[in-house]
Amino acid sequence: MMRVLGIESSCDETGVAIYDSAKGLLADALYSQVSTHQAYGGVVPELASRDHIRHLVPLLEQALDEASLSRNEIDAIAYTAGPGLIGALLTGSCFAKSLGYALGIPTLAVHHLEAHVLAAKLDCPDLNFPFVALLVSGGHTQLILAHALGQYELLGETVDDAVGEAFDKTAKVMGIAYPGGAQLAALADACPSDAPPLPRFPRPMLDRPGLDFSFSGLKTHALYAWKKSAQDALSRQQIALAFQGAVVDTLSAKCQRALEQTGCRRLVIAGGVGANRALRASLQSLVEKMGGALYFPRPAFCTDNGAMVAYTGYLYLSEGISDNTLAIDVRARWPFA
Ligand code: KG4
Ligand code: ZN
Repeated sequence: MMRVLGIESSCDETGVAIYDSAKGLLADALYSQVSTHQAYGGVVPELASRDHIRHLVPLLEQALDEASLSRNEIDAIAYTAGPGLIGALLTGSCFAKSLGYALGIPTLAVHHLEAHVLAAKLDCPDLNFPFVALLVSGGHTQLILAHALGQYELLGETVDDAVGEAFDKTAKVMGIAYPGGAQLAALADACPSDAPPLPRFPRPMLDRPGLDFSFSGLKTHALYAWKKSAQDALSRQQIALAFQGAVVDTLSAKCQRALEQTGCRRLVIAGGVGANRALRASLQSLVEKMGGALYFPRPAFCTDNGAMVAYTGYLYLSEGISDNTLAIDVRARWPFA
């Protein structure tokens, strides 16, 4: 039996969770800094670091409380070591290493994107390797072939904006507060089905072979559509739906290619945009058509959280793998596959 404390602090969410190998997830405490950064229209790294420092100790106490455990009942600590904001990563890793040293237990550096990809296994225990993962977050858009734990192959990625970034920037032009992705999706979903015909948005890079993506042109297209919307009598809901439709079609087409190319029939959605309802529905019908299966974490485990870090850490720590140094090693950039 092993209990792992997981600590996430790579961007603007502080997460502290406890995973128990026998009982599963015992606690999952989260603090989102969205209100801190909203006034600036994006994440301010220095403010993020200060906020992590403020919240790490209270969240640890909350998680221990939720799990009815004392500090001494934790067997190991996993923390996000990258990629992310260096200052933010330093708060979590210094905290994890110090606590591990004080308690005399091992610690382990976790890759944030690997944790996102493995989050689906927390909610879907029947998910086995190999699988294709569509990783769609605010900072990343990648298609990954996961062969085994620690063995990942990059199949394709965005050549410019990440899909979450495109959602957030499009929301911003339409006057929605940062991060507007989820709200833009809600506007799209609220568009009445008898609305007049939607403007045609491009499906970037579908005419080219390969599994790379590009979303910056789509974002610019949305900007022009929004500027012309009054004269075209288009509503915010219609533009949101046309934009979301183009994103979902593009992602779905590339997922289909990835499944065909690899012969794999298991598809995992990971990352914040994985919470998007239309994307899930489209990928669900795709895998059904292809005789495969779709796996995704609950929406709260799509966005940043400590649970995915605790769980990913557990998978390695239970094999005896841990940091064997007290040195702090965090990385803003850290290739995943
Ligand atoms: O994985 P995540 O929490 O943070 C990063 O590591 O980036 O992803 C956050 C991103 C944001 O861009 C946010 O707008 C987007 O995920 N997002 C959504 C939805 N919920 C969150 N985008 C589209 N539809 C949603 N329902
Ligand atoms: Zn993330």
